[in-house]
Amino acid sequence: MLAGIETELAPAELGRFTDILRLRSGKPLTVRFVAPDDADALQSYFRALSQNARYRRLMGGASELPPSELDKATHVGAHNIFAVVAEIGIDGVDVIAGEACYAFDPDVCAVEFGISIADRFQGQGIGAAILTNLECRAAALGAVRLIGDTLRNNEAMIALARKLAFEFKPTPGDWKQVRFEKRLVQSVADIPCESWRIAASRSFAANAVSAAV
Ligand SMILES: CC(C)(COP(=O)(O)OP(=O)(O)OC[C@H]1O[C@@H](n2cnc3c(N)ncnc32)[C@H](O)[C@@H]1OP(=O)(O)O)[C@@H](O)C(=O)NCCC(=O)NCCS
Repeated sequence: MLAGIETELAPAELGRFTDILRLRSGKPLTVRFVAPDDADALQSYFRALSQNARYRRLMGGASELPPSELDKATHVGAHNIFAVVAEIGIDGVDVIAGEACYAFDPDVCAVEFGISIADRFQGQGIGAAILTNLECRAAALGAVRLIGDTLRNNEAMIALARKLAFEFKPTPGDWKQVRFEKRLVQSVADIPCESWRIAASRSFAANAVSAAV
């Protein structure tokens, strides 16, 4: 597993964890870890979100990603916090169509995440594609549960979670939100991602070493 490292991944390592997904339109969607030099592009992405989308993603009225969150997003792996962007090629230029940030808690083997899709790219299956990819990335960290919280009136997020077979329960301590949660055990075998392959090869190598001593 990739779990337990807790240290930031070196920029040169980040590309190994990139996944290229296929949208229902047939277009490729590249999901990759955020690199330190993505800070400006990621911040521009958040500023360009509609007020409503940003409010739902950040659970508040911030006009941009708070500096502490930007810092976490651009130091992937540190404290078991990870961020990905999903890019689509438009006229030969890679455009950020969506993002997700997720944190792995090894004590409870769970990953919690937040996600957003740029307004103009919503409704094209990108949210579903990223979330399915996150299931695999979370499992590669050793998580057995994937958890999100959203405002109770966020119909799009609730419908997306329902479609992907998440279960709903109250968010502890916040009646305005609802929690959606999915057990990962069954699903990941069918949706391999690079993180999963890397995790599997590391545990294979570790087993080989322990068998040899
Ligand atoms: C919620 C969000 C991530 C969904 O992403 P998306 O790319 O638009 O969703 P998809 O196109 O993948 O939709 C997948 C399914 O979700 C449901 N869905 C998505 N948007 C919907 C909407 N506006 N109303 C009802 N159902 C919706 C549908 O079941 C859809 O399946 P279908 O396309 O077969 O009908 C996106 O709307 C968003 O970024 N919202 C603002 C930020 C936010 O709310 N983040 C969640 C907080 S963690």
